Amino acid sequence: MTRLVTEWVNVTGDISIVARESGEVWFHTQSGTKGDVNPFVSPMTGAGSAGSTVGLLDGAINLGFAGIEKRLARPDPTLVGYVVALVGAYHTSVDTPRNLQRAAGRFNELGRPEVAAYLEERAREETGHDRLALKDLRALGVPGERLVANFIPEGIKPLCKRFDDLCVQDYPVGCIGYSYCLERIAALKQEADIEKVRALCPDGVDATRFLRSHSSLGSEVTHVEETIAFVASLPAYDRIRIVQETYESALIMAEGYNHELHKSEAEMLEELQQAVGDALPYCISSYPSQGEKGGARSAA
Ligand SMILES: [Fe+2]
Ligand SMILES: [Fe+2]
Repeated sequence: MTRLVTEWVNVTGDISIVARESGEVWFHTQSGTKGDVNPFVSPMTGAGSAGSTVGLLDGAINLGFAGIEKRLARPDPTLVGYVVALVGAYHTSVDTPRNLQRAAGRFNELGRPEVAAYLEERAREETGHDRLALKDLRALGVPGERLVANFIPEGIKPLCKRFDDLCVQDYPVGCIGYSYCLERIAALKQEADIEKVRALCPDGVDATRFLRSHSSLGSEVTHVEETIAFVASLPAYDRIRIVQETYESALIMAEGYNHELHKSEAEMLEELQQAVGDALPYCISSYPSQGEKGGARSAA
């Protein structure tokens, strides 16, 4: 009988994620170890498997988001919030192909053509996604180019910086963890989420191109599956680094998204107006409608 693969990665001083090929995942803490024996204290060295790799990657995302669980804002979706989210979507996509190409070039120099080929394919697939966000903004009557040129949502800046920094490292394998985190979260979005946004848009306006393509209905699901298979095929030291970066990216994403979700309608509208002056269309500039000025949106 062949033994099932078990993988583990230490992501913080005390916590290691442990995952089995069967799909079982748990968090092992050093302080919770009975006696002196901690089987997960030395880094793993064996081969990966898809079942255990997805457990590590998703475990890293869950752990990263766990820190904001009690502070998580859950505002009702609004058109103003959606416009800000589209601006964020633009900024997290516009440099992706160039950044991934750069990381691919480095892996070619390092004699790792299989990693370079994977990153080059990802770069091709992500090309033009910033345009989807711009088209959505335009469909809503918003001067997209002017808006994105003048405005990066505060919570999105650290994310963009993280990806830029990862892709210029001497050994830029962490960029795979960042991308996985972003794509995995996007792939959780269902048709019902897209319908909710569609219901906010003025009649006859389709401003969900970016959202659809970055949801369970679009290419993200395939991207996620391909990444899991690719990561599982890599040597243990790469898998460790990728899982650690998935965790670090999840921490940054959780804080950044939550920062944006806590903003009130009035704050967001102010940011949009500062960026494009009075060029906002009526359907957006008429927010907030009644009694919403100042306070944070519902975080229930
Ligand atoms: Fe994309
Ligand atoms: Fe993607």
